Amino acid sequence: MSSTDAPSRLLVRDLGQVVTPAGSEAPLRGADLGRVDVVEDAYVLCEDGRIADVGRMPDLGPLAGDVEELDGRGLCALPGLVDCHTHACFAGDRAGEFELRARGASYEELHAAGGGILSTVEGYGLDRETELASLRAIEAGGGIPTWLGAHAVPPEFDDADAYLDFALAEVLPEAARIAEAADVFLERGAFDREQARRYLEACGDAGLALRLHGDQFSKQGAITLAVELGARSVDHLEATGDEGVRTLADSDVVGVMLPVAALVLGRPMPPGRALINAGAAVALATDFNPGSAFCESLPLVTSLACTQIGLSPAEALGAVTVNAAHVLGRSDRKGRVAPGYDADLTLLEAPDWRHLAYHVGGEVVSAVVRSGRLESRR
Ligand code: NIG
Repeated sequence: MSSTDAPSRLLVRDLGQVVTPAGSEAPLRGADLGRVDVVEDAYVLCEDGRIADVGRMPDLGPLAGDVEELDGRGLCALPGLVDCHTHACFAGDRAGEFELRARGASYEELHAAGGGILSTVEGYGLDRETELASLRAIEAGGGIPTWLGAHAVPPEFDDADAYLDFALAEVLPEAARIAEAADVFLERGAFDREQARRYLEACGDAGLALRLHGDQFSKQGAITLAVELGARSVDHLEATGDEGVRTLADSDVVGVMLPVAALVLGRPMPPGRALINAGAAVALATDFNPGSAFCESLPLVTSLACTQIGLSPAEALGAVTVNAAHVLGRSDRKGRVAPGYDADLTLLEAPDWRHLAYHVGGEVVSAVVRSGRLESRR
């Protein structure tokens, strides 16, 4: 079957396992994040892009009418994985910077010297036309656009405030028509807390959900600002300590952990175990970008979460499905294999769903189903 075929019904049958985060709540916290429902010898029936039924093969009755069938023998079906933090749209690469870092240069030093994020600025934009084109490209590609209009201060501006004057007056009105959320890099050498507040308040007034890159290299008050402004998430958290853990746990803000960036930049891993134990909602993402995390593999992210951050495979699954969908405002439709949800499946060629994290860097994903269509199969 090719991806251009659009069966109104797709039956994925004879699956070894169908696995989904338990319950119907989002985001999942504490012990709930570690609960999964596993159905052995199972099928998933997709109708018109949604999941119509999930069950055990012995309980599958006759299906009237046309149904496309997909043989699921040897496969496990998980929810479609949701990547809630990427820098998906950029031009060029930073392989040279990667080598400089391998020889000992730090990410922050390169950034301060005009490299790093600023060397990708032709692709990242930070001018009106490129920013808007990037948001439109992400939307056209099926992504959920977030306007990261405060990522770095372009060299043509005297300082961060002058850049924000421009960005909020000239870019925000149109960006708010395309994007669903706004994000700011609150960090020494980027935007300080008051500048972040100014940017986020203006974006919130324009109707955007709010997110922050925070606590990546240093604590600058990102978590308390996120809580105060009712942000959806604060992302990175490599520098977060006990107080930040407690503050996040007492809030509705999701802590998004980006272990590839921590690994690549030699930073401490975010305190994921402590966050979950304290009752915080956490998600995981790739942070795919040309600098700190040139990696698009969510399976690898789950491997790092289990081996470096102390999450169980079930917690890692919940963090890249239900909780990631919540960060993107999609938890009513994405992140579970259950009737009514979008028919998005990750099909693992494995005898056990935990191979998602266990098979480190392996080609464990055999195919994906998106909106009830088989999209790729290796
Ligand atoms: O999430 N820290 C800021 N932003 C990105 C890196 C972007 C880049 O280096 O181009 C991050 O790690």
